[in-house]
Parts: sequence; C-alpha cells; structure tokens
Amino acid sequence: MKLGSLYNSTASGHRDVFEDVHVVKDYADASYLMKPEESILKLFSDEWKSFRMLDIGVGGGRTVSSFAPLVREYHGVDFSESMIVACRDKFETSFSNASFNVCDARQMSIYPAKHFDFIMFSFNGIDTMTFADRSAVFNEVVRVSKPGCRFFFSTHNIHTVPCMFNIRMSWVIRMHLSKIREVLLLRRMNPAWRSFVSASYAHILDGAHDFRVSVCYVRPDEQLKELERHGFSDITIYSLVTGNMISISQAAGSCDPWLYYLCSIQK
Ligand SMILES: C[S@@+](CC[C@H](N)C(=O)[O-])C[C@H]1O[C@@H](n2cnc3c(N)ncnc32)[C@H](O)[C@@H]1O
Repeated sequence: MKLGSLYNSTASGHRDVFEDVHVVKDYADASYLMKPEESILKLFSDEWKSFRMLDIGVGGGRTVSSFAPLVREYHGVDFSESMIVACRDKFETSFSNASFNVCDARQMSIYPAKHFDFIMFSFNGIDTMTFADRSAVFNEVVRVSKPGCRFFFSTHNIHTVPCMFNIRMSWVIRMHLSKIREVLLLRRMNPAWRSFVSASYAHILDGAHDFRVSVCYVRPDEQLKELERHGFSDITIYSLVTGNMISISQAAGSCDPWLYYLCSIQK
C-alpha cells in the first residue's frame, strides 16, 4: 500500500521553508558530521584527493569544511537561494576548489553528463519531495555520474514509525509530558500510524520545521529496489546511530529514524 498520495509534499518541495531566515541560520550554524558521514570519510580516505564531488542540498554548509579540503573539486548546490548565499559568505574565499550554485536537484542541467566521482545528498534533503520527484533526482544523479561514481544519501526509515507514535515511560516527568504532547500532535496530524507500517513509503507530518514539511519515510527493501530500478548497484546501508554498515534485516528491525545508503553507478 502506498500512502504517499495522502501526504504528498507540494510541487515546490517546500522551498519556502528552506528560504526562511531562521531555518537558514540554524543550518549555517552547524558544522558537525553524522556518524555515517564519518564512516564514509574513512572508507574513501585514499581516494578523496582525486574526487570531483557534488554536495546536493548543501544547505548552510554543515558538511563543507569536512569534505572541501579533501577533494579535487567541491560543488555545493541547493534550490534555496538563501542557503547558497550563506555558503558563499562563509566558504568561497576559504576554499579555492569550492563553488556554490542555486540548482534544483530534479533538473541539474548546469552540469554536464558523466562529471562527478562522488555525490552526496545528506540529512534527508530528498525526503521533502514527492516520490515522483525522488525518481527525477535519481535520474539526474545517474546522468551526472562518471562510471564508478559513488552516491551517498539518507532517507527516513518507515520502520521507526511505531517508535515515534507510541509513548514509552520516562522517569523524568517533564520529558514524559513533552513526549506525550509530541505523540498526541503526531497522531492528530496524520492518519492512523498502523497504516504506515505496511506501506512502501509514506509522507508524514513528523514535526519537522513545526509541521510545515511532510517527510518521506521509506521501507529499506523498497529503497533498495528503487535504487536498482535506476541502475545503482553495490548498495550498502549505514545506521545513523552507530555509523556502521548494517544488513537489510537489521535495517528492518532498527529504530534509526533515518538510514544512509551508499551505492555506485557503473555505466
Ligand atoms: C535538511 S536540509 C540539509 C542541509 C545540509 N545538507 C545539512 O546536512 O545540513 C535539506 C536541504 O536540501 C535542500 N533541498 C531540498 N529539496 C531540494 C531540491 N529539489 N534541490 C536542491 N536542494 C534541495 C533544502 O533547501 C535544504 O537546504
């Protein structure tokens, strides 16, 4: 069952939210890495210097100072002009190999075919789109990939839904009250949570950006099939919580709110 149609994000992909001055500031203030990103840094430690890298949905540049110094060329793109202005202000003079451009991931015609060695779309930027738009992004990633290019992205995990929608006891009373409030809001804003559990994917109002953004949650086995349909191979999954590679059955049993996928394109 596909619930995507119930809560499909708008055709704009919530661009207005990512132009919001407060949202831009929050993203621009961040510079930490998530554990799977640290794992990837180590995994390709011998190769970075030869990579032409594309960072899609670069936001306020959280990942820039970790990746740009390592690679041959670093290209950050985002469909939010305000995010790109923030990145240019912060980084363009510090990294001579870096450029930042306004560009929609669904149509990246500013880049030629077979151009990049490593492409990243981190922190679930792909989840604010409709399922059809995700497909457009995968097609564009394939187009701009050199043979052997790696693609690394994250997407929400539908198996985490029961953990989100149910109240677990907390001994800290204040935390317990705020969790109850959060769960009640989630239940009020969405269809019955049990219907999500058997869905291949669903758009959920999960509280992100004060419930202004519907977020795509995907079954990991469905995500694998979708990547294979687009021509990706060598697909591996990384746990957000541990940063370690996990199997598909571990992903199905995990309460990781989102998972990272690493795959390659051989054409
Ligand atoms: C959750 S933020 C993550 C930002 C940054 N990668 C980080 O990890 O801090 C998602 C970003 O993806 C961008 N984005 C969403 N849809 C996009 C699209 N269709 N094309 C380009 N960027 C997009 C948003 O503007 C936003 O900056």
